Amino acid sequence: MPTTEDFQVSIDAAEQYEASFVPAIFAEWAPLLADIAGVEPGHSVLDVACGTGIVARTVADRLAGRGRVVGVDRNDGMLAVARRVRPDLEWRQGDVAALPFDDRSFDAVLCQMALMFFPDRTAALRAMGRVGRPGGVVALAVPASLEEQPAYGPFVEMAARVAGPEAVSLLSTYWSCGDLRELQNTVTGAGLDVTEVRTHAGTARFASPDALAVTEVEASPLAARLGPEQYAAIRAGAGEVLAPFTGPDGTLAAPLHGHLVAARVPAS
Ligand SMILES: C[S@@+](CC[C@H](N)C(=O)[O-])C[C@H]1O[C@@H](n2cnc3c(N)ncnc32)[C@H](O)[C@@H]1O
Repeated sequence: MPTTEDFQVSIDAAEQYEASFVPAIFAEWAPLLADIAGVEPGHSVLDVACGTGIVARTVADRLAGRGRVVGVDRNDGMLAVARRVRPDLEWRQGDVAALPFDDRSFDAVLCQMALMFFPDRTAALRAMGRVGRPGGVVALAVPASLEEQPAYGPFVEMAARVAGPEAVSLLSTYWSCGDLRELQNTVTGAGLDVTEVRTHAGTARFASPDALAVTEVEASPLAARLGPEQYAAIRAGAGEVLAPFTGPDGTLAAPLHGHLVAARVPAS
């Protein structure tokens, strides 16, 4: 399914993304992605659509000063936060459709929770393969389908009820690479050889259901699309639909299932 959603946010939203979304959700997936990619000291690694840089930072810690890590994203706000958090790493502005790197530059090309936002996923994967060295790896992490999400399913359904079609468009895009067979076919169709596939049962941890709702809105393009009444209704609704995942102390542990795919860059 092609998408027009590209997750472009302001620098304020990018700061909130780093402060809230990253510890709650994305930090859990970065080591899993580095694992499936087989990242080790000495490698040169590209983090595509790096956002505020959680994958690049995780990889840099593994490389321990031996190798190279570069983060690339089209969003200047995300990159500004990435630079503020880790000024020692290399951050580049660029679109996945025209990655600003020579052919065969990287041992591993990683892309976490972003394939859904690329308008032409096959072309994006081909571009990732182009900058990977032959025999190197392209590795992806994406959320599983909404039908496989016991907490986000009801949350998105509720948000879709109270928000307009533009909000629904973003909220449905998140899960649009979640059909594993289709995802593997897309990777293969881009000329890469799938070598490993894992499905992981992750957990989105927030201080409360309200904190999830606030993060989902304010750290994403949704903030600009909702009126105050819609936003208030989503916050109120979150408490109801996420009650089964809320502990006695009010904290939320919401299941978030996703897929990890590793693929080899062919020799020619
Ligand atoms: C949900 S964020 C994921 C960020 C990061 N990988 C993480 O795990 O936190 C999606 C990112 O994709 C980036 N993005 C969307 N379309 C892009 C494109 N065509 N080229 C490069 N980056 C893109 C956005 O700017 C955003 O930073």
